[in-house]
Amino acid sequence: MDDLLTKYLGAIASVADESSLEDLRVAALGKKGEISLKMRELGQMAPEARQTAGAALNRLKDEIDAALRARKATLADAALDERLKTEWLDVTLPGRPRRQGTIHPVSQVTEEITAIFADMGFAVAEGPQIESDWFNFDALNMAPEHPARQEHDTFFMARAEGDDRPPHVLRTHTSPVQIRAMQAQGAPIRVIAPGRVYRMDMDQTHTPMFHQVEGLAIDRDISMANLKWVLEEFCRAFFEVDRVDLRFRASHFPFTEPSAEVDIRCSWTGGQLKIGEGDSWMEILGSGMVHPKVLAAAGVDPAEWQGFAFGMGIDRLAMLKYGIPDLRAFFESDLRWLRHYGFGALDKPTLAGGLSR
Ligand code: DAH
Repeated sequence: MDDLLTKYLGAIASVADESSLEDLRVAALGKKGEISLKMRELGQMAPEARQTAGAALNRLKDEIDAALRARKATLADAALDERLKTEWLDVTLPGRPRRQGTIHPVSQVTEEITAIFADMGFAVAEGPQIESDWFNFDALNMAPEHPARQEHDTFFMARAEGDDRPPHVLRTHTSPVQIRAMQAQGAPIRVIAPGRVYRMDMDQTHTPMFHQVEGLAIDRDISMANLKWVLEEFCRAFFEVDRVDLRFRASHFPFTEPSAEVDIRCSWTGGQLKIGEGDSWMEILGSGMVHPKVLAAAGVDPAEWQGFAFGMGIDRLAMLKYGIPDLRAFFESDLRWLRHYGFGALDKPTLAGGLSR
């Protein structure tokens, strides 16, 4: 047994890699290994001899086993050190974009909008895209028989057979997030809610899925004047021009009273759109003072709180700002289109560093 011990300890110490070490383990302790075979011979021994030989064999086995494990750990450490020497990475180096993909204009514009409103104290709120008809319509003062409900070209989710509750819908606007945000945090509140919305519509300026951003500011004495300033400030920052001219046109939305649609002064010369000058007006959003019934539905006391809301199309803002003619191309994942209209992944829009650069 001493010979066996010397033989294996010597071999283990001189083995240079993990697979040769495994061969050694099999040769000694494997099912047909040298030590295992010796264990099997114990059965033919006289009981007394078996006892001493058995104990000695077990010690031998344990010693070889321990030596194998220790050597294995050493070899693994050495292999890791070797890898660390060749596979190192300087994480302090600047990034090297491969310029394969780009940031989609919708993501870029969403970031730009978020940066501008964050600077004015608006947090970002979210809601589900599959929405109950209560949040999407009823809570926004659009009862089931309300005509505006039909105009929304709604996608309805299927219910299980026999379930006659009203179906969920793919949200037709981001306005339900007003309700969810007020339910969750009450008043005062200042949020925007960018996200996907869905309507059954498809042509050069409509796709069944598109993006809106909702705005909501509720406090004790917020007025239309605050709405006007916030939207002017937003448009100046977003379109990156020194002055903008906004026109508030009386309108109607069930969830606001009074309601206004907002147009921005612009000019079209040679197919080129310029914001802030000229004699044309272009509608960019809907807005108004939040209807008392909407506040009440969200658990906010309309006798104590008031404020404004607005909603605008993100895709449309992207088309206007970056001169993109066809909305459908936004969602075709054409790499050539993305290379042309997309943005560098590392150019994050900030107010200080520039929105679009
Ligand atoms: N939800 C409206 C739509 O999708 C847009 C809108 C209008 C949102 C007026 C508002 C608002 O918050 O006050 O057409």
